Amino acid sequence: MDAENVIELRQVSTRFGAHVVHDGIDLTVRRGEIFALIGGSGSGKSTLLREMILLHEPNSGSIRVLGVELADISAADALALRLRWGVMFQHGGLFGALTVTENIGLPLREHTDQTDRQIDQIAAAKLAMAGLRPEVGAQYPAELSGGMLKRASLARALALEPELLFLDEPTAGLDPESAGEVDQLVRTLRDQFGLCIVMISHDLDLLWQTADRVAVLADGKVQGVGAMAELAAMDHPAIRKFFDGPRGRAAASSPDVTKWNPGEPTRSNPGFRRAASGLPIPPPPLEIPVLRRPAWKPK
Ligand SMILES: Nc1ncnc2c1ncn2[C@@H]1O[C@H](COP(=O)(O)OP(=O)(O)OP(=O)(O)O)[C@@H](O)[C@H]1O
Ligand SMILES: [Mg+2]
Repeated sequence: MDAENVIELRQVSTRFGAHVVHDGIDLTVRRGEIFALIGGSGSGKSTLLREMILLHEPNSGSIRVLGVELADISAADALALRLRWGVMFQHGGLFGALTVTENIGLPLREHTDQTDRQIDQIAAAKLAMAGLRPEVGAQYPAELSGGMLKRASLARALALEPELLFLDEPTAGLDPESAGEVDQLVRTLRDQFGLCIVMISHDLDLLWQTADRVAVLADGKVQGVGAMAELAAMDHPAIRKFFDGPRGRAAASSPDVTKWNPGEPTRSNPGFRRAASGLPIPPPPLEIPVLRRPAWKPK
């Protein structure tokens, strides 16, 4: 395996019963890049991500992550590997009975022998890294907005200082402004902290703003891999689908994104506000603290 490659998939095939989801997938994610996986619903994106993080085993083929072959991996090696990546699940996956600080501290309590004080300090640093105000640490997930939840879940994914970050639909369900902040956050994590990021997204703005390379999954195979501008020039019908709809055209016409067909930014162009939300300044802590507090605090 090339040391520059963080993930290598070779001839990965997956089926559920007679349903073939992946039919010989080859993919390479390089060190330091923001890599995105796109494709229609049911094309097997989440399944592929689950295979990369040891939550599902393909029927055949090889997956190497951070230099380790996942097939027949021992329990000890699997644990060691899991500590080297962070995952932000689509719906946050935070424990509702724990505060944000307790949620972020959980992996540290489980996997390190740091003191409570050290863990709280690390949790505070990760909150800041994810662009949240310190007060948010004392809040419960139910008290947070969608954008804050995503950030809190990201803070937890960062707790163990991962080398590799997996994001499943990081902007799904967010308003354009919050989504724009996530774009910025993703870039900051890579640019300032050197993280390699693998994400699944349908969000064309996010893809244009952040992804170095994008793989298009369709009919069990990778139909194309490249920068968004390269994909936008490809003829394959599965790829054209993403670029030829009105949303695809609007996202592609955002300024700051690419020299390819930049178009005129206008207020009515939904891509404009996302792009205008600003690069490359670090994400501002925009959350308004919620003053509500639960009457009881679970132990
Ligand atoms: N555990 C499972 N058992 C049976 N079929 C499954 C299972 N997991 C996934 N599938 C099937 O595999 C296919 C790919 O699913 P997957 O969730 O990977 O798609 P996806 O590309 O992430 O779609 P979406 O964009 O809707 O999230 C689907 O047809 C799904 O029904
Ligand atoms: Mg999915």
